[in-house]
Formats: sequence, structure tokens, C-alpha cells
Amino acid sequence: MGTGLIESNEGQGACFAPKKTMTGILFALLILAGATAVQAAEPIIIKFSHVVANDTPKGKAADKFRQLAEKYTGGRVRVELYPNSQLYKDREEMEALQRGAVQMLAPSVSKFGPLGVREFELFDLPYLIPDAETVDRVTDGDIGTNLFAKLEPKGLKGLAYWDNGFKQFSANRPLRKPEDFRGLKMRIQSSKVLEAMMRELGALPQVMAFSEVYSALQQKVIDGTENPLSNLYTQKMHEVQSHLTISDHGCLVYAVITNRKFWEGLPADIRSQLEKAMAEATRYERDIAKKENDDALAAVKAYGKTEIYVLSEAERKVWKEALLPVRAKFESVVGKDNMQAIDRITAEVESRKTRKK
Ligand code: LMR
Repeated sequence: MGTGLIESNEGQGACFAPKKTMTGILFALLILAGATAVQAAEPIIIKFSHVVANDTPKGKAADKFRQLAEKYTGGRVRVELYPNSQLYKDREEMEALQRGAVQMLAPSVSKFGPLGVREFELFDLPYLIPDAETVDRVTDGDIGTNLFAKLEPKGLKGLAYWDNGFKQFSANRPLRKPEDFRGLKMRIQSSKVLEAMMRELGALPQVMAFSEVYSALQQKVIDGTENPLSNLYTQKMHEVQSHLTISDHGCLVYAVITNRKFWEGLPADIRSQLEKAMAEATRYERDIAKKENDDALAAVKAYGKTEIYVLSEAERKVWKEALLPVRAKFESVVGKDNMQAIDRITAEVESRKTRKK
């Protein structure tokens, strides 16, 4: 009669376990294997929250990332998109990312000030960066990398920079000269540079979450704001703004960010597949940004109730000069060296364009 104990058969003889026990062990092993397989199949969820509409450069690029991430990981990752501040508004989404309630965001770099990283407001300096090519050269270079490094101590990790072209001003009266802004309540993102810009124009800056802007314009809590055209149009702000000035006074840059612990905790193969998906989504985003904004301008024109005014070169020069004091004020915050580096890159891009002509 067997002892019921399992002895190794290397030692002193063959192993005798009662049949029932063997079945039990096999059954337990099967359960275990099953459980492991089920657990293994559970996809890693990435909640990607943002504040703009789907049919915008950021909305479309986030969806492109979703498709590629799910494809390249063979479904081991599932990306859930939450556009239009569905889950969180501007400020809340940053906090939600830090505590891991969501895994990915793509906020405007104008919104890192409240996090204590004001250096990103470099991109808010009016008329510092003249075109999208220079934006990409700056974000893909040392400046972009150094700025991302400043997010790491905040528990965040920078993955990529996306851009949404250039901002235009809108209000319910013509904005053709700097003094036309006097006394207007103008909505801005939570940036000290943008605040100083509005004050320099004699306007009253109002920091407000993006999702609140349309109703604040409609209820005349504010008089005007600044946006790339794709945001103005998809949020229907043109329906509550009688005047739009094409000023191209500043770029809107996004930082695609994740929670550092979440990212570092991912299996290495998954992380590299997600990096591949992000690189492709970034190329896609930059490819579509200009067309999305051009199409939005055409749609505002077609709407036909907003007077559209394009600043002439001479007028643009007047605005640029009127806003120069803002640069001087923020040299110590955003770095004089960074501003000089951008001027150098701008000159390189310009001279290469001239040579090509
Ligand atoms: C804004 O608040 O105006 C923008 O940053 C919104 C966005 O994400 O494009």
C-alpha cells in the first residue's frame, strides 16, 4: 500500500501516488495553466485622454496611435481614447496621469506651468518660431529633449511632440492693430508668457479650461481668444466670434506624455512596439496638421458669418515689435540660450528655403 508521499525516482525507487491524487494534481495544473493563459491574454489598457475633438490633428493622430499600437502588439495592448475632455479637463488630466488613472495625454506645452515646468513656455513667445519646420527641428533637437527631461521628476515621461500649426486671434470686434485689444477679456491657456502677451496688448487675460471656452464666449464672459483654426472650427467658436484675424502669432505644440512608472513597467517588447507606433503616429500627425487647419479656415469661410482679416507683412511687423517686451521679460524663465538656439535654427531653415528657390 503506497505512503501517499511523492518520492523522487532518482533516489531509491519508482514514485507511487494513488490514482486519485495524480488526477487531482493534473486537474490543479490544468486550472493553473488555464488561469495563466487567461491572465496572459488580458490586454494592457492605455487610457488616452485629451481635450479636443476627434476630427483635429491631435484627435486623428491619437486614433492612428491606437490602431498601430493594437496592430504592432498583436492585441496585447488596447488603447481607449477619451477626447473632448470626456474624462478630465486640462488641469485634472495632468493630475490623473500622475496618479495613474490614465496612461497617456497630449496636452499643449502651454499647460506645464502649473506642474512647475515653466520652461515649456518658450513655445508661447509671440513670433519666436515662424513655421512648422522650425517647430519640428526645435522639438526633435536638444531643446525638446532637455524639456522632456524636466518632466521625469514629476513622474511623467515625454514620448513625442506633435504640432497643431499656428494660432489666430478671434473676438467680436476687428483686431487689426495691437491697440484693438485694449480692455478685451481674452481666454488663454495656463501660461505666464501668454498672460504677459495679452497684457502687453492691453487685454485682460483669462485662464480657462479648453472645454469651457465656447460657452464662455457665447455667454460673453470673455470677448475673445486665440486658437489654431482646427480648434476654433471644431469647437464651433466661429459661431460666437464675429471677427477672426490671421496673425500666426504663435505655434501650438503638444507633448505626448505617459506615466513614467507605467511606461518603465511595460514588458520591453511591448514598449518598443509602442515606440514604433508612436513614431509613425507622430509623422502622420505632422503630415496632416497643416491641411486640417487649412480645411478649417475654408469651413469658417464657407460658414460666412465671421469676418476674416489677414495681417499684411507690414502689420505683422508692427505686432511683432509691440510684443518684443514679452521676450525680454521671460529670458530667465525659458532660457536666453534656448531663444538664441531657436533664432539660429530659424535662420538655417530660412536660408535653406532661400537656396532651394
Ligand atoms: C487650448 O487649450 O486652447 C489647447 O491647448 C487645446 C488643445 O489641446 O489643442
